[in-house]
Amino acid sequence: MAACGLDFGTSNSTVALPSGEALPIDPTAPSPRLFRSVLFFPEEVKTILAGNAAIEEYLERSDGRFIQSVKGWLPSASFTATQIRNKAYKLEDLVALLLRRIREQAERAAGTTLDEVTLGRPAVFSPDPEADARAETRLLRAAELAGFRSVRFLIEPIAAALAYEATLTRDELVLVADFGAGTSDLTLMRLGPGRGGARDRRADVVASGGVDIGGDRFDAEIMRHKLLRHFGAGSSYHTFDKRMPIPNHILGKLLSWHEMSFIRERATQKLIDHMLHASDNVPAIEALFDLVEENLGYRLFRAIEAAKIRLSTDDATTVDFDEARVQIHEPLTRREFETFAAPLLEGLESCTSELLTRAKVAPDAIDSVFLTGGSSQIPSVRRLFADRFGERRLRTADAFTSVAEGLGRSAGAAS
Ligand SMILES: Nc1ncnc2c1ncn2[C@@H]1O[C@H](COP(=O)(O)OP(=O)(O)OP(=O)(O)O)[C@@H](O)[C@H]1O
Ligand SMILES: [Mg+2]
Repeated sequence: MAACGLDFGTSNSTVALPSGEALPIDPTAPSPRLFRSVLFFPEEVKTILAGNAAIEEYLERSDGRFIQSVKGWLPSASFTATQIRNKAYKLEDLVALLLRRIREQAERAAGTTLDEVTLGRPAVFSPDPEADARAETRLLRAAELAGFRSVRFLIEPIAAALAYEATLTRDELVLVADFGAGTSDLTLMRLGPGRGGARDRRADVVASGGVDIGGDRFDAEIMRHKLLRHFGAGSSYHTFDKRMPIPNHILGKLLSWHEMSFIRERATQKLIDHMLHASDNVPAIEALFDLVEENLGYRLFRAIEAAKIRLSTDDATTVDFDEARVQIHEPLTRREFETFAAPLLEGLESCTSELLTRAKVAPDAIDSVFLTGGSSQIPSVRRLFADRFGERRLRTADAFTSVAEGLGRSAGAAS
């Protein structure tokens, strides 16, 4: 029986061995150590694709069911099962499909059976304790269904902390902040060679907390502020004797691509058909029509995410998207992006302040601040911490694998 650590992420999953080495679990992906947490059920064929293969096939075909961000549904009581190709899949079945593929790929890469797993979970799945427990129970069930015989959980930022601890030569009080796609997690923890030997590290955690702000929300703000006008925001249409603005309930659904399918409800479809000739901005309604009818939401959000990622290094970029009647070439500066993202940054700031207050720790008492997760690469996120704690105290490592690395190390210490 061999052990591993598995970080099941909202957008990327990773696996590491007790040595901390992250395994190449998706060999055809642009970054083989990252397994995209997505599934694709093509319409006609019986296969189920996962990871990079799912994305490639979905972009080719656009029919069938593409499933993303399942982790985000784990706490939700409203998601019980979904019907795919005439079969009912419970949420844990979908998660299990992913975890099984990940396990099999990890075993191939490691050259051994991996049946003991230390699985990450966010510090808070949900502020509601019942929903939080539901999420963990479902994740446990999914891991068992995926063929793991022994499953233990570790909070993701604690795992990231253990990865950072491996680099320390003296004991420190560390604030670990992990900014993912779905959530941001913070943990204040005592780390160092003097403490690393203990199996149960709960006593070293001074405080932890989290907030449901992650990269997906930053993407949504780009959509809201820069792209909605391409789909009719600000336009109106005539009906009988008056003019009506395009309803907000339609525009609101465009902020995340998986909500877009709800626009296909009959009443909304009828309204869009009407607006196609009654709008004062017909090209925008045509773009809206094609976005929904041709299922372009995922591709559009990829373009948005790519622009956001470019803004982590460039001062200005363009969101480019040119499919069907959706033609977008929208310039976007980093300064604009930061203005849109201000409420999210305030959310991260207040979560940090709240944690320090709860821990009764003055900022000066913190030796270092370890930033990880893909969204830690957003310059304004980093700046938030640089302004508060000083650039000198900030530490980083591989933003995408440190959680898995810590989970792997912890799995090794436990087995
Ligand atoms: N260079 C970059 N600049 C800004 N954002 C980035 C960059 N690279 C990746 N991201 C964002 O990081 C997020 C993915 O990070 P990560 O893999 O840490 O998340 P995750 O572990 O899947 O999510 P979670 O921990 O919330 O479950 C995505 O939202 C992605 O857009
Ligand atoms: Mg993560």
